[in-house]
Amino acid sequence: MDSEKALRQLERVYQDLPIDADELIVEANFSRIFLNALGFSDLEMIPGFGIQNLAVDHAARKNTDDDIFLKTQSNPYLYMEVKGRNVNLSNENCAPFNHAAKQLKGYLRHSQSKSVQWGILTNSRHAKLYRKHGKIIHPVTPCLSLEGNVRHVVKKIREKIESPPKTLIITVYNNKGGVGKTTTILNLAAALTLCKKRVLVVDFDHNQNDLGDALNINPVNGKIVEMLSSKDPDPRDLISTYSFKHPRAKEAWEFDILLSDSSLIAGDIDEAKFKQLVKPTALRKALEAVQDEYDYILIDSPPNWRIFSQKAIYASDVILIPANFYDLHSLQNAATALTKFIPETQDLRRLQTGDFGPVALPIFMNNSPTKPANPILSLVREAIAQIIDNTKKEFKRDLTPYFYPKMTPGVINHEMMQIPRMAHIAKADFLHRPAVFAFKPAYEIYVNLLQEYFL
Ligand SMILES: Nc1ncnc2c1ncn2[C@@H]1O[C@H](COP(=O)(O)OP(=O)(O)O)[C@@H](O)[C@H]1O
Ligand SMILES: [Mg+2]
Repeated sequence: MDSEKALRQLERVYQDLPIDADELIVEANFSRIFLNALGFSDLEMIPGFGIQNLAVDHAARKNTDDDIFLKTQSNPYLYMEVKGRNVNLSNENCAPFNHAAKQLKGYLRHSQSKSVQWGILTNSRHAKLYRKHGKIIHPVTPCLSLEGNVRHVVKKIREKIESPPKTLIITVYNNKGGVGKTTTILNLAAALTLCKKRVLVVDFDHNQNDLGDALNINPVNGKIVEMLSSKDPDPRDLISTYSFKHPRAKEAWEFDILLSDSSLIAGDIDEAKFKQLVKPTALRKALEAVQDEYDYILIDSPPNWRIFSQKAIYASDVILIPANFYDLHSLQNAATALTKFIPETQDLRRLQTGDFGPVALPIFMNNSPTKPANPILSLVREAIAQIIDNTKKEFKRDLTPYFYPKMTPGVINHEMMQIPRMAHIAKADFLHRPAVFAFKPAYEIYVNLLQEYFL
């Protein structure tokens, strides 16, 4: 079916379906036409697609000359979970929405869903698109209303799924300094490199230049500001490569780095001037210019909530938040990022681009004592319980999954992701190299972090 015909048909179906249509009716009338409008032919979709003993409502993938999806049922590209109109998906903070989103994420996460890159949640009145990158599932659109908007919604989703970016953009952020942001970036970059991933690290902490400094690479002067303030920012010419040759490895290990700008370090261009020169969207646009060259882009940001950190968060798909076990402020600041800074940025991005993001990953504890003494452990838990309680009251948000991702309703589990305090990690700073490249125990710890969150 040509897409104009599918669109017109979809608009008709949208109007004709009763307001209380249940899942069966929506399935029978809407799903196929919606997938047609998104560019999939009838031979490119399978209803009730089986994943072991589960079934997702629809799977879809484009055919190739010798592989008809409907026949081979192999390598699905997109899943669609369909609800009835009687399930309210208009409010993303309510139980029916969360339940449906959890179900879709479960299918996407399944070990037999490796080839799947997108998930759509819809009840024919609203639709939301999720992207899968490795282990990460993140929303890329708000929950879009189809009311008077069918064409726009189809166009928006279609644009995304027809040009999937290779990269995942991550900012490591806590507005507390010294929690290990820069250390995390360096070692994640190194660990990803050893896992054969292409990585770009971005030093967006212009005042400190710690990332470049840690690798003994000098900042560039004026070039970053110039690039970001141009009409179509493209960082390609400014990217350097960090190379490390381990005596026992055949080839050098390499990742790329976009250095900080010394004109910002020196204060030649102050923050007000920078704000005037560089649009809020500029950094994301610049990184999108190289999004097909890297599996991961990691941004180092300053420990505050001012212009550079705001732009770094704005540019990201996901935010990784380190905190310190013994540092109450780092825990409180993590909560502030989750309840204020990230939602504010989501609102701004939605307004400016119509997209949704970024989202935060569960907090991890960096620099943890290997065996925290019991009295301090219970103090830390009390403090976290207090933070969770306060944010429930003040912001109507439950931060439990961010502090204790393994906790489920009714089952207490205080496990958190931890990077221990390690002499190797601190020592590597002085040697100007990521600990992961030089010390096996550091490698193992960061690969564990990668596996927990990303791989
Ligand atoms: N897991 C760790 N074990 C030992 N030292 C660490 C660890 N994480 C960070 N550090 C040290 O703590 C200091 C602050 O870390 P850094 O990454 O610069 O923090 P931030 O970027 O958040 O300001 C550095 O000297 C670093 O070497
Ligand atoms: Mg730093």
